[in-house]
Amino acid sequence: MALSLHNYVLAILLLALLPFLATSNSHHHHHHHHHGLKSLHFSLFQHETINKTGYIIVTGVAGPPVSQTTVPFGTLFAFEDPMTVTANISSKTVGIAEGTSIASSLDGLRSISIAKITLNLKGHKGSISIVGGTHNTKPADHPVVGGTGDFLFVQGYVTSSPVDLQGQTVVYKIEFHLYWPPYATSTS
Ligand SMILES: *[C@@H]1O[C@H](CO)[C@@H](O)[C@H](O)[C@H]1NC(C)=O
Ligand SMILES: *[C@@H]1O[C@H](CO)[C@@H](O)[C@H](O)[C@H]1NC(C)=O
Repeated sequence: MALSLHNYVLAILLLALLPFLATSNSHHHHHHHHHGLKSLHFSLFQHETINKTGYIIVTGVAGPPVSQTTVPFGTLFAFEDPMTVTANISSKTVGIAEGTSIASSLDGLRSISIAKITLNLKGHKGSISIVGGTHNTKPADHPVVGGTGDFLFVQGYVTSSPVDLQGQTVVYKIEFHLYWPPYATSTS
């Protein structure tokens, strides 16, 4: 009796774990449906050209001068950058990143960024909003705080990594990891 109860509890535990085992296996595919949790994973490339798509609005008050990788503490920056499907700026533009960042570390390397990313993908149109800390030379994760259109209620994160910091146009790879909560997909 004690043994069969033990086996019963084990079986229940395994059944409860199965959905997690299944979802943790899912990545690097475009599109998933796992027990009602829809997700989308893809990458785009953001191109920022100083004095063309990104501008310093207010120069900060302390720390290093403006360079390719640093800005004075408190510097306010605004941007409207195209996002393309490959690192080549001539490739198809499928997104626009609009936002601001404020230099938040005294060494001039980190900032707090907020952005609205408008996406025009096959089958998914709308925008997501992100907020978080960015490092000027290292990868950084930004939580997705929500979305509009086909991205209504979306959660997840985007990882931003510098690809090319030389020259007038800097390029970042943006990896999107988006998840729809069950209540967002129940009507679609
Ligand atoms: C951008 O414009 C500002 C203000 O006109 C200027 O001081 C700065 O040198 C320019 N930066 C580049 C990289 O052209
Ligand atoms: C970028 O794409 C254009 C147009 O397709 C092409 O002519 C150019 O060689 C590409 N540049 C690089 C660095 O691949």
